[in-house]
Amino acid sequence: MNEKKDKTDLLDMNRLPEHVAIIMDGNGRWARRRAMMRSEGHAEGVNSVNRITRLSSDLGIRYLTLYAFSTENWKRPQAEVDALMHLIGWTIRKETPDLVKNNVKIHLLGEIDRLPESVREDLEAGRQATAHCTGLNLMICLSYSSRWELTNATRRIAKKVKAGELSPDNITEDTIASELSTSGIPDPDLLIRTGGEHRISNFLLWQCAYSELYFTPVLWPDFDNDAFVDALLDYQNRERRFGMTSDQVSVAHHNDEPGNDSTPVNNN
Ligand code: IPE
Ligand code: IPE
Ligand code: MG
Repeated sequence: MNEKKDKTDLLDMNRLPEHVAIIMDGNGRWARRRAMMRSEGHAEGVNSVNRITRLSSDLGIRYLTLYAFSTENWKRPQAEVDALMHLIGWTIRKETPDLVKNNVKIHLLGEIDRLPESVREDLEAGRQATAHCTGLNLMICLSYSSRWELTNATRRIAKKVKAGELSPDNITEDTIASELSTSGIPDPDLLIRTGGEHRISNFLLWQCAYSELYFTPVLWPDFDNDAFVDALLDYQNRERRFGMTSDQVSVAHHNDEPGNDSTPVNNN
């Protein structure tokens, strides 16, 4: 009997990332390998979106950010863009009831105004239907790029300075972070890219300053629960130092453990 053990049992549930971001790449190659249309690869990719959203929600991950369509993806052949837009609208309509049932809240990041009106309506309906949900925050990046976002943020900050509401000397990292579409959301702990490319492709450049990066050759439509758990296990084996030494990090961890009443250093 081939009784397969659930890989999630291997996870340390106390050390899960709070925020996972995914560059979902490889749909086109998945289709080409099967002599199918690229759009069929995207359709198959939707199954992975549903699967990974469900598992993230079940595990209690707080934030899942999915790169679904980049600013640069508008340069693709019109037929592929149209097929993707249609698929996005159709998926959100179809999946919203399940998202509500699973307490998943939809957030939209990107230049949504550029999307066709019917898709915008579907997205907005999904967003409103899940606005009360308190479980997983599902952030869908559409017509998104980090440089677009940073340019917008800069423009807004410049307007505040011009209006006399903000002094240039008072611009801090928090000022910039608060003008991004991820304002109020913790930075990704783990950034996954499927499909074998080792690049960021204009995704969350500011927010991923200290994210753990995980690249896998698995094509997005093939990215199953085990592949996701592999990424989480890899993450759990890393030491996040944030510029400190390994010794400092172990002391900080030790002090965090229950029963270790450390006195925090007060810098004020
Ligand atoms: C990712 O798959 C999905 C989108 C960018 C919309 P691709 O379509 O980029 O697939 P490959 O990289 O060509 O295999
Ligand atoms: C990145 O994938 C964008 C998304 C997954 C939405 P691409 O396939 O567009 O990235 P490049 O062009 O290979 O860098
Ligand atoms: Mg690609």
